[in-house]
Amino acid sequence: MAPADTLNTLLSKLNNLTLDSISEKYPTTHPEVNPFDLYRVHLAEILAPITGVASDKIYPVLSWTNTLDKGDFLLPIPALRIKGAKPDALGAEWAAKFPEDDPLFEKPVTAGNFLGFFTRGGPLAQTIVPMIRQLGEDYGRNRFLGMRDPKDPSQGKKRIVVEFSSPNIAKPFHAGHLRSTIIGSFLANLYEGAGWDVTRINYLGDWGKQYGLLALAYERHGDENALNQDPINHLFHLYVRISAEKEAENAAIEEKKKAGEDVTELVAKSLDEQARRYFRKMTDRDEAAVALWKRFRDLSIVRYKATYARLNIKFDEYSGESQVTEEAMEKVAKEMAEKGITKEDQGAVLVDFTELIPGKEGKRLGKTVIRKRDGTALYLTRDIAELLGRYEKYKFDHMIYVVASQQDLHLQQLFKIIDLLGYKDIAQRCQHINFGLVLGMSTRRGTVKFLDDILRDCADHMHDVMRKNEAKYSQVEDPEGTADTLGISSVMTQDMSGKRGNNYTFDLAVMTSFEGDTGPYLQYAHTRLSSIKRRANVTDEELANADLSLLTEAHAINVVRLLAQWPDVAQNTLRTLEPTTVVTYLFRLTHVISSSYDHLQVVGSEPELKIARMALYDAARIVVGNCMRLLGLSPLLR
Ligand code: ARG
Repeated sequence: MAPADTLNTLLSKLNNLTLDSISEKYPTTHPEVNPFDLYRVHLAEILAPITGVASDKIYPVLSWTNTLDKGDFLLPIPALRIKGAKPDALGAEWAAKFPEDDPLFEKPVTAGNFLGFFTRGGPLAQTIVPMIRQLGEDYGRNRFLGMRDPKDPSQGKKRIVVEFSSPNIAKPFHAGHLRSTIIGSFLANLYEGAGWDVTRINYLGDWGKQYGLLALAYERHGDENALNQDPINHLFHLYVRISAEKEAENAAIEEKKKAGEDVTELVAKSLDEQARRYFRKMTDRDEAAVALWKRFRDLSIVRYKATYARLNIKFDEYSGESQVTEEAMEKVAKEMAEKGITKEDQGAVLVDFTELIPGKEGKRLGKTVIRKRDGTALYLTRDIAELLGRYEKYKFDHMIYVVASQQDLHLQQLFKIIDLLGYKDIAQRCQHINFGLVLGMSTRRGTVKFLDDILRDCADHMHDVMRKNEAKYSQVEDPEGTADTLGISSVMTQDMSGKRGNNYTFDLAVMTSFEGDTGPYLQYAHTRLSSIKRRANVTDEELANADLSLLTEAHAINVVRLLAQWPDVAQNTLRTLEPTTVVTYLFRLTHVISSSYDHLQVVGSEPELKIARMALYDAARIVVGNCMRLLGLSPLLR
């Protein structure tokens, strides 16, 4: 049976609605991917004559609940703006008028200014369970949301660019990059699930005088083998070493200067100066200089790709500061000057927002240098040219920058400059998604924090945790691989549990525990659901023909009610853009599933009942897996 047939079975119980009439009258609803849309439409239609409010005014105010005991939908009565009547009195009156024998809903319950509606468990189970099993990984996705015109799919999808991760070559991959990676990948998945055309961009920090210094370091102390084997670490160590040399040299020069010596020659020969000259060669496109730098970049990218693969992440484009051409920057520089956005100040070029924008906003944005006196373009200048270049290339409908809150001002300045340049509609398409700090992150292997080290530490810790349960440990087929996946799940789940903007403390012991709301707990929940299916020995055909009217227990119905919420939760996440919206739902779901096991035996029940319950748990496994994949976790089977 196709999902539409399942819905039609449900619709046949209602005498006033068809799929066509629904899509005509409620164009934003898509019952074929979200059955709760149909429930809301039906409710609005029933309530219209009772309340005297038009159904299309009722539909948008119907909200969901956060706890099952309040019902499945709520009507906040004041939102209907009925004059001269007390909401609670209206509620009581409407509840009394609500039909006794509605096919989808029980009699509503009154709660202050709200009416609460409980779905009837039978029809819901008989609709939701088959639909989830038919849609599989697509359950919770909604291809209509990203369409330019949902009525006319030939118009294509809306396009979004998500820039995330964006580490700096030869520098540690710090917590900010980790969070950007986790949150950015999640957002990209979210938009993909909503039917958008998604482009993932990694904007590397790979340009600037420090790469001249790095090249010098390589010429002096570089090791070809080490570079090929472990480029990220080798480059980092070279960089640390030469930076220390440079510091020492600068300090010595300062000393001499203080003592009144002539340091002109020393300065001219200094590492600082050599690095500057080397970088100048790079910007002048000197072949050898560019080739060496490109090797560093390419080898680092190969490594990054391998690490991202462990997190199921693939970028469509490795952009970076180096990829912004001088020509592109000159072009915007000219444009900014012509439009009176920049001004010269002692040879440097700057933007003074306090002059350009009156009042508080200008003050907040302050002043910023765009080009230094020596002619080098800065971080912000590159971002301006890069943004316009991306628009040219992708003509995006929306672009998200996933960058730590420390760069709030930088991105506000960036978007404002684009706006001041006259590209208001482009500026409006851009959004900064920020996040707080990770506190207390250090690894066992010292203080260097590359993504690989972080993940390896978590996997090691996880492995220790697993070894503590000898009986279970001996049954794990691939302990290394399992520890690795569990470790990654731990880090990611901890990161996504709170609101993005909050800081959190990196705590290996807490996040790798199987108890509490952790990644390992989620993996455990998924493996348990998978193992029921392996042990039950029920064929897919039997599951497809299950007699779901046997699912009558409150525990079974509560699982069904939560499963039915998933498309709404996914859609709401598109508004909050908070991973915690999904994480919170997923923990509620897994808790309700876990407390149902004792009441809903599968193996050992009567054959028909066993099949019905197995179909329910199969649907639960699908939804838990879909949530996990959206978060970027790889659901384990064992
Ligand atoms: N590489 C930068 C850093 O580590 C982050 C880049 C953010 N993206 C941007 N378009 N500026 O701080």
